[in-house]
Amino acid sequence: MNITSNNLSYSKKPKIFNHPERFVEGWYWVIPSTKISVGEVKPITILGKELVIYRGEDKQVVILDAFCPHFGAHLAEGTVEGNELRCFFHHWKFDAAGFCVEIPCLEEAVKVRTKSWPTAEKYGLVWIWTGETPQQPLPFIPELEFDEFDHAFGKHLLLNCHPNVFMINAIDTQHFNTVHKLLSEFNFHKQEINENAITFVNTTNESPDSHLIKLIRPIYKKPVNFSLCYWYGMTGFITIGIGILQFNIMFACRLAEAGKADIKTVFLAKKNKSIFGKMYNIFLLWLSQFVIEYFIKNDAKILRTIQFKLKSPLDFDQSIINFVNHLENQKALKWQTWYMDRTRNGEEEVEKRPKREKWHDELVND
Ligand code: FES
Ligand SMILES: [Fe+2]
Repeated sequence: MNITSNNLSYSKKPKIFNHPERFVEGWYWVIPSTKISVGEVKPITILGKELVIYRGEDKQVVILDAFCPHFGAHLAEGTVEGNELRCFFHHWKFDAAGFCVEIPCLEEAVKVRTKSWPTAEKYGLVWIWTGETPQQPLPFIPELEFDEFDHAFGKHLLLNCHPNVFMINAIDTQHFNTVHKLLSEFNFHKQEINENAITFVNTTNESPDSHLIKLIRPIYKKPVNFSLCYWYGMTGFITIGIGILQFNIMFACRLAEAGKADIKTVFLAKKNKSIFGKMYNIFLLWLSQFVIEYFIKNDAKILRTIQFKLKSPLDFDQSIINFVNHLENQKALKWQTWYMDRTRNGEEEVEKRPKREKWHDELVND
């Protein structure tokens, strides 16, 4: 059912947004690239699905369904041989495309294939595409699509709120003033850059009362650039810029069990090959951590207890409605199976959502 309130049109019971068992087909972060070296194989669980990851001699990362198509042994018990993976149980061998290429007790392997998922590496992370063929490039910031980055990892958090709810915090204009005491006026211009990505760019000059702006004003006269770029409603880039101080922060999220957010924070700085540039980037990435701490320090206490409902939005909440509407038009998959969600309306599903117990945020060691 679509309703209109204060000229805002949105679905009252969205079938993807804030749903604990739905996500959009797309690219999702898997593990830091350095955590999987050549010849290594590991079990992983992404968006509820059990998978196996290995890195072959050719340095390519491969992700297959976890269980061997013969008798179902977990392939992470196996060994990497060249660019292939051999099952521990009866020694069947699978190539990067998932084809069985060797069965020791037969002269020729039978035609068996396990599912191989598209992978890529960027921003220091391994990524997986949760469908057949990638329909989009890896998440990027529009004006920096072809740039290379230095990166530094921030916290890896398991947060007691849905990733979509965590994402919209950065476009929730009212709370900038109430929670962060930051800016009293904000106005976002939204642009859908493709079916799966939407940007919000602040077009307002900041209020002179703002503490942060008062602090910056003597050294910087132009408006502070603040923009967001969201992919699949779960990976968000925040760009905060004042002159050469340009902070790019990526929150790469996945939907964890019972609708929680599994968040990897990555700080990014455009690569610069000069010695000074390299040193400056180290400083910038270090400083980024303080900027982000400043923003999310007070959000944490809201996000760990919130039971988000889109009940009575105001015109101020237009950007959030834009985010929800953009998300609802994307291809939904079911958590754990990754099958397409074919229900026409998520209403009956909503009632079955698992309840979240009292819970603490968790810092995860990768
Ligand atoms: S279970 Fe893997 S080879 Fe038999
Ligand atoms: Fe916030």
